[in-house]
Amino acid sequence: MLRTQSSGAGRFADFDLSRVPSPCFVIDEVRLRENLEVLRGVSEAADTKVLLALKAFSMWAVAPLISDHLTGTCASGLWEAKLARNHFGGELATYAPAFKPSEFDEIAALSDHIVFNSTAQFERYSAQAKAAGADLALRINPEHSEAEIELYDPCAVGSRLGHPISKLDTLPDNISGLHLHNLCEQGLEPLKRTIAAVRPFLEAHKGKYQWLNLGGGHLVTRNDYDRGGLIEILKELSEDLGVQTYIEPGTAIGFDAAILVGEVLDVTENNGPVGITDISPTCHMPDVIEAPYRPAMLGEAGALDVRLGGASCLSGDIIGSYKFDGVPQSGQRIAFLDQAHYTMVKTTTFNGAHLPSLAIWNSDTDALRIIKQFDYEDFEGRLS
Ligand SMILES: Cc1ncc(COP(=O)(O)O)c(C=O)c1O
Repeated sequence: MLRTQSSGAGRFADFDLSRVPSPCFVIDEVRLRENLEVLRGVSEAADTKVLLALKAFSMWAVAPLISDHLTGTCASGLWEAKLARNHFGGELATYAPAFKPSEFDEIAALSDHIVFNSTAQFERYSAQAKAAGADLALRINPEHSEAEIELYDPCAVGSRLGHPISKLDTLPDNISGLHLHNLCEQGLEPLKRTIAAVRPFLEAHKGKYQWLNLGGGHLVTRNDYDRGGLIEILKELSEDLGVQTYIEPGTAIGFDAAILVGEVLDVTENNGPVGITDISPTCHMPDVIEAPYRPAMLGEAGALDVRLGGASCLSGDIIGSYKFDGVPQSGQRIAFLDQAHYTMVKTTTFNGAHLPSLAIWNSDTDALRIIKQFDYEDFEGRLS
C-alpha cells in the first residue's frame, strides 16, 4: 500500500463543500500558482527547463497560468500533443513507447522534440522527424529501480520503457537528447542514486547529445523536498556533461492543489457502517485501487470507523475506512485531498457514473467558478 503524499488540507480546510455540484474536482488556483513559482525558482536557479507532463494533469483552463511559469509541456502521443499546441505555450516534447505510423508525421510537426523508446523506433522515424523540424532523442532505461511498487517502476525486470543502457554501445549520429524516467513521487536521494548508476553511461557518450531530460517523479513542491540539492545536481550535470537539463514533473505541479468533493448517498451495515458515495474510486480515483493507496479525507475526525465506497457494481470499489463522529447522513458532503494529478485525466463513466464537474477556486479572494459540468450526452457520446 502506498502512502498518500498530501501534506494536509491547507486552505481547503475553509472551503464550504456545499458550494459545488457533487461530485466535483475543485482546484485552488492560489496553491497551483505557488507550486508553479517553486518550479520556476528551480528552473531559474539551475538553468534547467521544466515541462508539465500532460498525462498527469492537463486541465487546460489553467494553461495560461502554467505556461507563464514553465518552459512547456510533454505529451504521450498525438492527442496530448494537439492539446498542448491548442492551449499551452512553450516547448513540446513527445514521447511514446511506440509511435503509430499513421500519426507520426502529425506528431512530428507539432513537437519540438521527439523522444524514441528504442533505437529501432529511432531509425524507423528519424528521417520523418527531421523533415518536420523536430529534434531527436532516445529514452534510456537506467536499469536502476527506485519506485516503491512494481506497477510504477519503469526499471522493473522485463520493462518495455526505455532502451536498457547495458544494451546500448553507441548512440545514433543525429541524436540531440537523452531522456530517462524512473521515479514516482520521490525526493532527492533516489534521484542521486539514479544519476550515480547512469553516470558512467552519460560520461562515456559525452558530447554526442546536447540535452538531458531527467523525467518526472520529482516531488519538488512538497515542503520537505531538498530543492537546493536538486539545483546543485542539475547545475553539476549541466557543467560536467555540457548539456541543457530538463525535468518533466506532473504530480509536483498539481500537488495538494485540488480536492474531489462528493456526497454520502446511503449508509448500510455489514460488520460496521458502510457508506455508499457518489465518488467511485474505479471511475474517479483509479490509483486508489491500482496503487493501491488510501486518499486522505478532508477534516477526518471522530471515533466511528466507516467504510466508504462508490455506487458501482465492483466489489472492490472501496475508498477506504474513515473516522466520523457518528453515522454519516445521506446528503453529507465529503472530500478527498490531493486529487489533481492522475484523476481528472483518468475518469471513466463505468456503470454510468457521472463525471465530476470541474471548479476553480481562489483561496485568497474566495471566488469560485464552475468551469465544466458533464451530462448524459458526454456518456452517450463515448459509444455508438
Ligand atoms: C515519461 C514520463 N515523464 C514524466 C512523468 C510524470 O511523472 P510525475 O507525475 O510522477 O511527476 C511520467 C509519469 O508516469 C512519465 O512516464
